Amino acid sequence: MRNQYFRTKITELFKIKHPILCGGLMWLGNAEYAASAVNAGGMGFLTAKTFPDPIEFKDELLKAWDLTAGQPFGVNLYQSMRPEENEVLSGHLKIALDTGIRHFETAGLPPTDFLPHLKEADAIVLHKVSTVRHAISAARKLDIDAVTIVGAECGGHPGLELVSSLIQAVVGPEQIKIPVVIGGGIGHGRQIAAVLGMGAEAVLVGTRVLVAKEVWSHPEVKEQVVNAGAADNTLVMASFRNTSRVMINEYAHKVQHLENAGVDDFDQYWEFVKGSNAYDAYKTGDWNKALLSMGQAAAFANSIVPMEEIYDKLIDEATEAIGRISALTQ
Ligand SMILES: Cc1cc2nc3c(=O)[nH]c(=O)nc-3n(C[C@H](O)[C@H](O)[C@H](O)COP(=O)(O)O)c2cc1C
Repeated sequence: MRNQYFRTKITELFKIKHPILCGGLMWLGNAEYAASAVNAGGMGFLTAKTFPDPIEFKDELLKAWDLTAGQPFGVNLYQSMRPEENEVLSGHLKIALDTGIRHFETAGLPPTDFLPHLKEADAIVLHKVSTVRHAISAARKLDIDAVTIVGAECGGHPGLELVSSLIQAVVGPEQIKIPVVIGGGIGHGRQIAAVLGMGAEAVLVGTRVLVAKEVWSHPEVKEQVVNAGAADNTLVMASFRNTSRVMINEYAHKVQHLENAGVDDFDQYWEFVKGSNAYDAYKTGDWNKALLSMGQAAAFANSIVPMEEIYDKLIDEATEAIGRISALTQ
């Protein structure tokens, strides 16, 4: 692991070495994933919805505590627009707190119902949004410790406005008093140096670490990410105001075909968009038969290596970039 090079409000708040956070990843964000980020000097968020069964969820948390040898890791609580999908979360929140988790990434709907419990337990809450406007509102109205703003480039949900991280990394920190984390398209250390210079206190990555050795997906899915460039992804489901950036594949084309034909009956989409497809694809390697979240940072995910190697590389690239800037100044 690299020595600490950056000291930011997020490294201090989270008591971590590197200002690099690994966001929640549906189906993939398990104990190995979260622990590998922590053991590499950052923070990783185990994804609560990936373990709908409370006993399995608790076991996974205990496994992560073992893997980090007691170093804190985080839990992602993503609330989708469909309330029935969020039902497990309040029970899971209690389990997480009981198990000693004090770092949370919330996302999707504002975590209004969760916050009293989280704050009573002195937990650190990082809420993730896709626009500066939502970040300003969250920082003003919610008792959160920091806010993540993901730009249009991100894998998963880039929101509706689709403003790039290059813009949001300047505008966000300028207008928001609590620490701002920038995500979306981040996969190279030069970008880390740049967004820290712009005012961010850390970066959040998702796509870049899809190729980490500790991520359990089938080698054929990983190979697709390794081979993908910045443009090998596409946007789907914008017509339902639920835009997702995903790998270009057969099911992404099917969905786009329906959207282009003006079909607004969600039932016709279900066989292509249901979340269990992604689980099946990660398991079997049949990457064409699911919407698989992947962003433009696939351009940087060029080999399957341990998480720690990814972190070391990001830090080396960032320090080199800072050396370059210094050399350019008089
Ligand atoms: C495969 C995949 C699954 C994701 N699942 C979730 C999730 O369950 N909850 C969540 O809050 N964000 C999820 N995200 C978003 C990431 O946590 C993170 O915000 C995003 O990947 C950052 O942008 P990047 O992909 O450009 O690095 C997912 C992203 C990917 C690539």
